[in-house]
Amino acid sequence: MHIPVLLKETLEILDLQSNENYIDATLGEGGHTKEIIKKIGPKGKVLGIDWDKQSLEYFQKDIIFEGKERVVTVCGNYADLQKCKEEGNVLDVKGVLFDLGWSSAQLGVVRGLSFKESEEELDMRFTGEGESAKDVVNTYREEEIANIIYEFGDERYSRRIAKAIIETRRKKKIETVGDLVEILTRVLPRRYEGGRIHPATRTFQALRIHVNHELENIEKGLKAAVEILDEGGRIVVISFHSLEDRLVKNFFREEVKKKTMAILTKKPVCATRGEVINNPRARSAKLRAAQVILSTTS
Ligand SMILES: C[S@@+](CC[C@H](N)C(=O)[O-])C[C@H]1O[C@@H](n2cnc3c(N)ncnc32)[C@H](O)[C@@H]1O
Repeated sequence: MHIPVLLKETLEILDLQSNENYIDATLGEGGHTKEIIKKIGPKGKVLGIDWDKQSLEYFQKDIIFEGKERVVTVCGNYADLQKCKEEGNVLDVKGVLFDLGWSSAQLGVVRGLSFKESEEELDMRFTGEGESAKDVVNTYREEEIANIIYEFGDERYSRRIAKAIIETRRKKKIETVGDLVEILTRVLPRRYEGGRIHPATRTFQALRIHVNHELENIEKGLKAAVEILDEGGRIVVISFHSLEDRLVKNFFREEVKKKTMAILTKKPVCATRGEVINNPRARSAKLRAAQVILSTTS
C-alpha cells in the first residue's frame, strides 16, 4: 500500500473549498485524492490522471472510499493536462496537485529499473512505449550517452562511462541490467562516492529520466496547469530529487517574473521526523506551491 507523502501539508496549501473541483495529475492509489474528496464535498470533483493503465485500473477496481463517485479518472500523461481535462470534462478547476515519481508498487513491476536485478532486460519504460534504456545504450552516439548521464544523473564520470559503453557494445550487445552494471563497476573507482552509493545509481537514474521524458513532462504539465487555472488557483508539487525540485523552483520563479504567479512556499516544505519514521520514502520529498495571480487561461 502506497502511503501518501506530505498529506496534511498538501491539503492545507491547496486551500480546499467545498463544492469546488481539483486535479490530481498523479492519481496513483488515490492517497491524496481520497482526502481531497472528503474536504470538497458534497459536490466537488477530482479529475484523477495517471499515465500507467495498470495503476489506474487498480484504483478503479480495488480502492474504495466514500465519495469515490466524484473522482473522474483519465488515463493520460500530465504533459497533456489540457487534453486530459477536456476528456474528463471537469470544469472550473481551483487547484492542481503533482506528486511526482512512481509509487513503491510500480517500481517493482517495471523491468530494468533496479540495478540489483541483474538478469532483467534493460528496459526502464513505465508505459512500454518509445525507446527503452537498451535502445539508448546500444544505438546512441557516445557524446549523446555522456550528455544524458551527466545532465540527468549529475555523474562526473559520464564521459568515461559512455566510452566504455561504446567499446563494450562493439563486441556484444548490452541486453541486461547485469551487462550495464558490469561496465559501471569495471570503469568507476573502487571507492565510488566514498562508498555511499552504488556505482550504478546515477547512471540508472539518468537513463530512467531520459526514456520516460520525466523532466520534459513536468515542465509541460506545469505550463498547462497555469493555463488551466483562474486567478487564485493553486499548484502544489511534491518532488523527490534535486533535478525535479530545481525545475519546479525555476518554473515558479519565471512565472513570478512574468507576474502571473506568487510563490506560497518561500522554502520547500519537507516531511517531519515523525513522517519519515513512518514512511522512509518521505525523506527526500520537497513540496513547493504557487498561486495564480494573473490568469492566462486559454
Ligand atoms: C508518487 S505516485 C502518486 C501517488 C498518489 N499521490 C497516492 O497518494 O496514491 C505518482 C503517480 O504518477 C504517475 N505518473 C508518473 N508520471 C506521469 C505522467 N507523466 N503523467 C501522468 N501520471 C504520471 C505514476 O504512474 C504514479 O502512479
